Amino acid sequence: MKVNVILSPNNVDDLYFTGKTTVVIDVLRATSVILKALDAGAKEVIPVGSIDFAMKISVNSHGGQTLLCGERNTQMIEGFDLGNSPSEYTEESVSGKSIILFTTNGSKAIVKAKYSDKVFIASFNNLSKIAEHLVKLGNDVEIISSGASGIFCLEDTICAGALVKLMMEKTSDIKVTDATNASLILNEKYGSDIKLMMENCEHGQILKANGMDHDIEFCSTINNIPLIPYFSGGEIKLIKDEINESDSK
Ligand code: MLT
Repeated sequence: MKVNVILSPNNVDDLYFTGKTTVVIDVLRATSVILKALDAGAKEVIPVGSIDFAMKISVNSHGGQTLLCGERNTQMIEGFDLGNSPSEYTEESVSGKSIILFTTNGSKAIVKAKYSDKVFIASFNNLSKIAEHLVKLGNDVEIISSGASGIFCLEDTICAGALVKLMMEKTSDIKVTDATNASLILNEKYGSDIKLMMENCEHGQILKANGMDHDIEFCSTINNIPLIPYFSGGEIKLIKDEINESDSK
């Protein structure tokens, strides 16, 4: 299996993903939020690339079953129901509901990967489960580090490195690219204390300055949500990880 880490979604265009198996990572905070929402019983998460489009599709929703969620520059968007803090995605607020999610980087990176054959969503919260599933599938893998406004970020790249490391523990059949090697090296250097790394990284500093320290705590927790979110037909839902089942992705 060849495993490549894309250090910024801006490095490739949408068609690059055609037919590929792709994993999207935005640990602070979009992909961690997606896991929290689905774990709390949300019916699905619909990632969108613009606020306008989020507004447009929410018009067709009815009966309070759809929530408009996300952030712009870490802050809740006017007229939206929820922001982008994992703590907001409780059973009480999201169970049975469809979540339309716009975020500055993460939701856009997921939408960008839409031509992939398979798209999985990962964060530190589901790392082992995703590694196990990818190794079972045995396909070449592209891992997107969502970054910040098209620029490299440490926390997503380290999460990618941690994911590849786990895959390498499960199989010797992994070929790495230079970018993957760089993410493995960064994980080796900073991965022993994920929370500290997140507190010190650029986006962690912004979250801290906005009083969102508790989000860093949640987003740095490893394997507390062993689920596999899968993006298909515009929606992210959970799949079973039995790859021999007919509905396996
Ligand atoms: C993003 O997509 O850039 C984010 O998840 C930012 C955030 O909510 O902190």
